[in-house]
Amino acid sequence: MRQPLVAGNWKMNGSLASVRELLAGIKAGIGGISKCEVAVCPPYVFIPVAQAELSGTSIPWGGQNLSTEQSGAFTGEVAGSMLTDFGCTYVLVGHSERRTLYGEDDAVVAKKYAVARAAGLKPVLCVGETQEEREKGITEEVVARQLDAVIELEGVDAIGDGVIAYEPVWAIGTGLTATPEQAQDVHAFIRNRVAEHSADVADKVRILYGGSMKPGNAVELMAKPDIDGGLIGGAALKAEDFLGICRAADDSV
Ligand code: 13P
Repeated sequence: MRQPLVAGNWKMNGSLASVRELLAGIKAGIGGISKCEVAVCPPYVFIPVAQAELSGTSIPWGGQNLSTEQSGAFTGEVAGSMLTDFGCTYVLVGHSERRTLYGEDDAVVAKKYAVARAAGLKPVLCVGETQEEREKGITEEVVARQLDAVIELEGVDAIGDGVIAYEPVWAIGTGLTATPEQAQDVHAFIRNRVAEHSADVADKVRILYGGSMKPGNAVELMAKPDIDGGLIGGAALKAEDFLGICRAADDSV
């Protein structure tokens, strides 16, 4: 049985005051949630705040990105070891906003996955197709390519050390959610692709859905056999909405 995971990707949102309020709200409401792991990924500068507020709770925190490099003259970059220093458990790699807005290709994403592992972080590998790719019928081809880049560089066991998040680009921040069936089809495809290399890893790796997940659609999505939780953007910025999704995941097992 895979433990569900619901992680909030706060993207570039919040202020010191709003982050404190959001963390306090999550902490206050987490009490009834016992089976689902709940995590948050704040912007870098708020990670020390998450560390101060969440140390000693059941809630891990993580980064939204990391450098491909270890240290040195890379102005503006943040290394995996720095995230570990601040108690991060997770780090997102290959989010579609990084891929499209910052030109991260599969090779860069695979390298980030590798350096995250080397730093002792659990990478959350984000994969997903654009609207155009779905319309062309190449969703599986795209997702396979994104997944294979990591397996080829790091081997299948590396997949077992992390988490996969299927985030159809057309569903991110648009209010358009994949139907539970559409999501399940791609999740099953991903798990089968991993199983071609290792049935054990395929069985244990958690595959999250991301893209306009809300308390209102989370129950149906979480009910699908290969959906093991969610990576939440907009709805993660309101404690009540985020906790509503966490409760749906908690009730799904
Ligand atoms: P939304 O939940 O705002 O659609 O964002 C999803 C996402 O990109 C999480 O990483």
